[in-house]
Amino acid sequence: MPRTERTIASPTGGSNGLVATPCVAYLQHVGRTALAAIVVFASSPPAHAQDADAGKQVFRSQCSICHSAQPGRTIVGPSLFGVVGRHSGSVPGFHYSNANRQSGLTWDPSTLDRYLTSPQQVVPGTLMTFPGLHDPKQRANVIAFLKGLH
Ligand code: HEC
Repeated sequence: MPRTERTIASPTGGSNGLVATPCVAYLQHVGRTALAAIVVFASSPPAHAQDADAGKQVFRSQCSICHSAQPGRTIVGPSLFGVVGRHSGSVPGFHYSNANRQSGLTWDPSTLDRYLTSPQQVVPGTLMTFPGLHDPKQRANVIAFLKGLH
C-alpha cells in the first residue's frame, strides 16, 4: 500500500507525497477503528441490549416531569408503577383521554416501543404531549426500567 501511494505522489513533488501519505494512513486507521467498533457493538450479547439503570436516567430526564414511578401518584400523567402488563387507561382515578382508554392496547415491551416512538401516531388524540423517543436504545432501556416497577 505505502509503495503505491508514493509512486502516485512522486510526480507532483516530494512535499505533496509527504503530506498525502500520513493523511491516507490516518484515514485507513480511522476506517479500521470504526469497523472494529461496529463489529464489537454488533456482536455484544442481547443481555446488554437493555439496561434498566440507563433506563432510569432516561425516565428521570424524559418522563418524570409528568409521570411518577411510585404507585398511585399522579403528576400530569398517571403513575407508571406496574404499567408493563396492564391495559391502557386503567389507573383508577386518572382522567384519561378517550383515545387512550379506547386504544385497546395492553402495555407490553412491543406496544410500549411503538407508543414511545411516536405517542400521537399510535394513540391519535392522546393527552400525552411528548414528541417521542427516537433512539431505539433509549426506548429499550426505559422499557427495561418500567418492567422492574412492580
Ligand atoms: C408532558 C407530559 C408527559 C411526558 C413528558 C410523558 N408523558 Fe406519558 N403520559 C402523559 C399523559 C397526560 C398521559 C395520559 C394520556 C391520555 O390519557 O391520553 C400519558 C400516558 C402514558 C402511558 C399510558 C399509561 C396508561 O395507563 O395507559 C404510558 C405508558 C406513558 N405515558 C409512558 C411515558 C414514558 C415512558 C415517558 C418518557 C419517555 C412519558 N410517558 C413521557 C404525559 C406525559
